[in-house]
Amino acid sequence: MALFDKCDEFSRWIESLKERREFFYLREFDPAASPVVSMGGKKLIMLGSNNYLGLATHPRVVEATALAVREYGTGACSSRVLTGTTGLHARLEKRLAEFKGTEDAVVFSTGFMTMMGTITALTGEGDVVLSDEFNHASIVEGCRLTGAEVRVYRHNDMSDLEEKLASCEPEQDKLIVTDGVFSMKGTLANLPGVKKLADEYDARVMVDDAHGTGAIGPSGRGTLEHFGMEGEVDLICGTFSKSLGTIGGFVGARSDVVTFLKLRSRPFIFSASPPPSSMATVLACLDVLEDEPELLARLRENTAFVKEGLSELGFRLEETVTPIIPVLIGEDSKTFQMAGGLEDEGVIVNPVVAPAVPPDSSLIRVSVMASLNTQELETALEKFGVVGRRLGII
Ligand SMILES: Cc1ncc(COP(=O)(O)O)c(C=O)c1O
Repeated sequence: MALFDKCDEFSRWIESLKERREFFYLREFDPAASPVVSMGGKKLIMLGSNNYLGLATHPRVVEATALAVREYGTGACSSRVLTGTTGLHARLEKRLAEFKGTEDAVVFSTGFMTMMGTITALTGEGDVVLSDEFNHASIVEGCRLTGAEVRVYRHNDMSDLEEKLASCEPEQDKLIVTDGVFSMKGTLANLPGVKKLADEYDARVMVDDAHGTGAIGPSGRGTLEHFGMEGEVDLICGTFSKSLGTIGGFVGARSDVVTFLKLRSRPFIFSASPPPSSMATVLACLDVLEDEPELLARLRENTAFVKEGLSELGFRLEETVTPIIPVLIGEDSKTFQMAGGLEDEGVIVNPVVAPAVPPDSSLIRVSVMASLNTQELETALEKFGVVGRRLGII
């Protein structure tokens, strides 16, 4: 009985948050990743999706996915290691390796499993994992589960990272892990700095480029392309759940490392294969990214338009080069009021409060999609103005 007492208490707390309008989770949208979504029958402009390029609803991507469902059925119904690998899985792995400039690649069923399963397979007792304090929860979980020693360095702080590397024992193998794009604020990792230290201290580097893949770099190949560093890190990881239209994750690395992950990573071995149709989705997304560079251009135009509009209205923004725009509010209560006010006016955004960001630095996380048209963006900006003025934020 007592085991569930905390759930009862928790449910009452959630109800109180809902009454105070401080709960913006588990809302239902139909569909979820379109420029205009419906919630309880009401139409709203979506500025809270990670479907940056709009590929989850792109006709070519939808058609390729539907064709694959007809040919392969709805699921592979087995682990990748047993009978769950199809030709589509193998084709996508080859394609991702080309896309990321690595020898080989492996596809996992989710991005979360990718990060967690890579860290836990490759590190163990006697090793050291050095992890940025703002890394995604999937990396944190990998760090919790590894038998290795974990040293968390201050966010993007190269002198702290160096200090932590320098104090490792010479016989310890070291893995530095960082997000490429930090998901809450859209800021970039200092990858040149990380790589320099890794070379100096003979450490391997793993980059989680969930938000960079498809969104940044001259041709959308991600954070390494942005820095002109493709092929320069040991493990380049990502997810399909942002720019690549579906769910799943991948690691690009040396062939022997990929083979090791396929036969040693427990989330890869002991969970079912992602549906073949999801592989077709990602293959189509990569084709569209290559054939329609105007989509990336449109994403950048839309992002610049929203940033400029918000700045002109008087909002404080943190500088980023990604489609994630952090609108700094400060107090949690004002942040919730802003999100609630925007929702009432027909705009969906994500409020971000501590512990996801430091206390008193709450923000509204706006994420832009290439599929939003100018009229939708203008309407959203107008609503930001209305609610921001009403709350005395601008
Ligand atoms: C940086 C980062 N890594 C990993 C993940 C996990 O990926 P997925 O949601 O595709 O499992 C996410 C998703 O939120 C993320 O933002």
